[in-house]
Amino acid sequence: MRLPKVPEARGNLTHIEGNVQIPFKIKRVYYHYDLPAGCKRGGHAHCETQNLIIALSGSFDVVLDDGYRRQSVHLQQPHQGLYIGPMVWRELENFATASLSLVLASTSYDESDYLRDYDEFLKAVRGR
Ligand code: TYD
Repeated sequence: MRLPKVPEARGNLTHIEGNVQIPFKIKRVYYHYDLPAGCKRGGHAHCETQNLIIALSGSFDVVLDDGYRRQSVHLQQPHQGLYIGPMVWRELENFATASLSLVLASTSYDESDYLRDYDEFLKAVRGR
């Protein structure tokens, strides 16, 4: 989704408020940085958590998989956010050098909200 961008001669500003530009209240923020060449992040789904992912700097691909179809989304602009709802497997890859990702989350960290095994994920989504 396109996020607001306030352009000024002194630079751009993007702002995000929970339940305004994005469909959830923000409970947690985290970011990936100092990423070694060729690394992959993600590799899981969440039972409940909703996320918004932004490439604050650099670029990377997010592979999304709902258990039936896979698609890859390229993120490279700080005013572009990728919303990911619950029960969507995601993999982040092809990070450009010095990329910085920002992830907004609707929940506090809770390991029991993760599905980290792809076969378990498939069973969970297809069994619903
Ligand atoms: P993980 O969610 O697997 O990272 P990725 O964004 O690549 O999917 O988390 C990596 C480690 O960091 C794992 O040990 C859990 C820990 N962690 C927290 O303690 N709190 C958090 O909010 C997050 C996102 C991860």
